[in-house]
Amino acid sequence: MVVETLAVAVWAMLPAYVPNNAAVLVGGGPPIDGGRTYGGRRLLGDGKTWRGTAGGIVAGVLLAVALDAVRPAVVAATGLDLPGFPLSAAVALAAGALLGDILASFLKRRAGRERGAAFPGFDQLDFVVVALLSTAVVAPAWVGRVFTLPVVVVVLVVTPVLHLSTNAGAYLLGLKEEPY
Ligand code: CTP
Ligand code: MG
Repeated sequence: MVVETLAVAVWAMLPAYVPNNAAVLVGGGPPIDGGRTYGGRRLLGDGKTWRGTAGGIVAGVLLAVALDAVRPAVVAATGLDLPGFPLSAAVALAAGALLGDILASFLKRRAGRERGAAFPGFDQLDFVVVALLSTAVVAPAWVGRVFTLPVVVVVLVVTPVLHLSTNAGAYLLGLKEEPY
């Protein structure tokens, strides 16, 4: 029961987890804000690029398609009731995760924090909250069925742990400039 809740939470959120990591790998090039400023500070900053955003969405959607393809085999092997991914949910999870990260950068810049500065709490949960809300808008029935209250609670607890550990790993591998 607990194992299944944890498995469903991580499985269903994987298409939202991967886009930010993929953006770190493929990011670069022209920033989304085109260098524009607002109130004397960058609108978003050089850390939010078109390439990173597009690459992140593609990575998240491809992962959802792959999970969907292996789902029958995984369900047969584990007996866990893991959900499939309608395309609308896949796109919303991936795009919503990046939108959350972009909105957090907007707020960070307004709060006077430079690119790369830590924003505890926001850094770890911005993308989950916006990914879930976006998906609830485009695929409400799917979200209602998959994200039961226990699953949502597990997502909110497990995501910061996963986020901090993957970022620390990316930092140690030299892929990211800060360990958070
Ligand atoms: N990235 C990107 N496009 C995005 C998100 C991330 O290109 N939409 C890439 C950038 O190269 C960025 C790196 O991934 O520097 C790390 O992402 P993140 O930690 O979110 O950005 P920061 O550089 O820390 O900037 P910010 O302070 O605005 O979060
Ligand atoms: Mg950062």
